[in-house]
Amino acid sequence: MRRKIVAANWKMNLTHDEVKPYLDSFLTEVGEVTDVQIVFIPSYTSIPALAMALEKSPTPIELGAQNVHWQSSGAFTGEVGAAMLRALQVKYVVIGHSERRQWFGETDELVGKKVVTALHAGLYPLLCVGESLSEREENRVEEVLERQLRKGLGDCPPQDLSSVVIAYEPVWAIGTGRTATAAQAQEAHAFIRSVVASAFGPAAAKSIRVQYGGSVKPEIAQALMSQNDIDGALVGGASLDPVASRKSSETLLKRCAQPARFTEANATKIKL
Ligand code: PGA
Repeated sequence: MRRKIVAANWKMNLTHDEVKPYLDSFLTEVGEVTDVQIVFIPSYTSIPALAMALEKSPTPIELGAQNVHWQSSGAFTGEVGAAMLRALQVKYVVIGHSERRQWFGETDELVGKKVVTALHAGLYPLLCVGESLSEREENRVEEVLERQLRKGLGDCPPQDLSSVVIAYEPVWAIGTGRTATAAQAQEAHAFIRSVVASAFGPAAAKSIRVQYGGSVKPEIAQALMSQNDIDGALVGGASLDPVASRKSSETLLKRCAQPARFTEANATKIKL
């Protein structure tokens, strides 16, 4: 049984002194949650403040980072290494986010190296893959996903694959307000699982968690999460409002607690 995972990617938002008020507000809304794994992903400078605040959280919330360098240490001015993150109680790390691919020139090869470095340091990579709008329009979704997955996971030791979470984030949906339909996302997630099956075997494909990301909002989280191959959400913009973030988690919780209500037939009736 794959445990649902909801991660809040704050991107370049929230200073260290805004973290505690955010957390207090989130916890007031959400109460005690254990069924769904929640991960907060602040910018580097807010990690220590969040780590400290989370120590007293009644709801277990994991700490994530938005990036990591592909070398463990060395002369790389301005970069942050995996061991530095581990030393701050960081557990998850986003790797290959489309904003890093687009604005910072990160290639599939670099992404693959980062995955290995993160695993080696004991971090759980949150590997982002997804096609651009033109790639979708050219019917190249599967080709792009397969390339990104094969390179991103190419050097991942098979025994470490269970530590990886994949995030399907179509680039055209990120920060645009244009969410993939549940059917589009399910199709991509099923394909991702088939690529993992061909590379690592059917058991690995069945157990790996695949999140959806791209303009996830509380009102559509339920339809997405009721799909067979969608195991959670990577939420950007909506996570900056702790109340909206709480609602996303809540719909996921309902999905976990009452699976019978969210049959495939019901899911297709939910209009996005
Ligand atoms: P968004 O961002 O929810 O604002 O589209 C998602 C992401 O970039 O991970």
